[in-house]
Amino acid sequence: MQPRICGPMVGGAVLCLSLGIGQGYAQDHAEYEPADIEYGRSVYLEQCAACHGEDGDAVAGVDLRGGRLRRAALDRELIQVIRNGIPGTGMLAIDLDTAEMTGIVAYVRNMTYEIDVATLGDAGRGRAIFEGAGDCLSCHRLQGRGLRTGPDLTRIGAVRPLSALRRSLLDPTGTMRPIDRPVELVTADGTRVTGRRLNEDTYTVQILDDDARLRSFDKADLREFHVIAQSPMPAYGDRLDPAALADLLAYLVSLKG
Ligand code: HEC
Ligand code: HEC
Repeated sequence: MQPRICGPMVGGAVLCLSLGIGQGYAQDHAEYEPADIEYGRSVYLEQCAACHGEDGDAVAGVDLRGGRLRRAALDRELIQVIRNGIPGTGMLAIDLDTAEMTGIVAYVRNMTYEIDVATLGDAGRGRAIFEGAGDCLSCHRLQGRGLRTGPDLTRIGAVRPLSALRRSLLDPTGTMRPIDRPVELVTADGTRVTGRRLNEDTYTVQILDDDARLRSFDKADLREFHVIAQSPMPAYGDRLDPAALADLLAYLVSLKG
């Protein structure tokens, strides 16, 4: 049988989801009781949220709601991390009784899901927005279509948690990874080239230019070289209403290559 997760929905009903198509948790526990998830939330807010944040993404490099935890892929590992802490880091040992521990494990394993329920719309409508009003293909490649100003999104749902996808849509500049930054340069003969930085070292820079060609330049030969900190991607929070954003997120999450 496929593992399932169950949780309280907005409005009080309980919903179960099959994990086969979900985030692919490597866990040793198939089901969590809604009551445990509920109780776990209060334990979480009391014991963990001060450091990890209410949304689970406040510690750099740790996204509790992302579903993949390096040192806590299995429930018994998660329990160990909580019980023993992670020596030499800010993750201190936390003493919980059995009910609290059961609750916290259930809650942490279902954090992604809670957000899914609250923010995911209809993937079919999201696709229509992606290809239509959102105009995403004017910059992004998807399954061989679209332009290359932005990263290829064919597998984006497999490599980024929902929280990161949502942040990218709302605040593209704030979430831009340094390696994705647009560059503008002028070569020795005066040609202006713009594109996306793929790699850079002390002497050379490699970019994907706006015609999607991979090009390498010796910095010493360039007349000008600027890295632009502002993302060319518009912030969609004011361009799309919340329902449209929820649909778009559902579509992005479904893109697993
Ligand atoms: C005092 C701050 C603090 C508190 C409280 C805290 N954590 Fe952490 N936690 C951290 C830090 C910092 C790390 C990252 C350690 C590192 O790798 O440097 C971490 C790491 C983790 C990891 C490992 C993540 C991974 O990718 O493997 C898990 C799981 C975790 N915490 C769960 C919890 C839970 C559940 C609670 C509440 C019961 C909690 N933490 C309370 C600071 C805290
Ligand atoms: C004007 C060009 C442009 C448009 C239009 C655009 N994007 Fe982007 N997008 C980018 C660029 C460039 C990046 C790389 C990082 C950055 O600049 O924020 C990016 C990054 C992203 C990321 C993060 C990728 C990662 O690796 O984490 C997502 C997700 C994304 N865009 C989705 C969309 C969606 C969905 C739309 C349509 C609603 C869209 N983008 C429209 C240019 C664009």
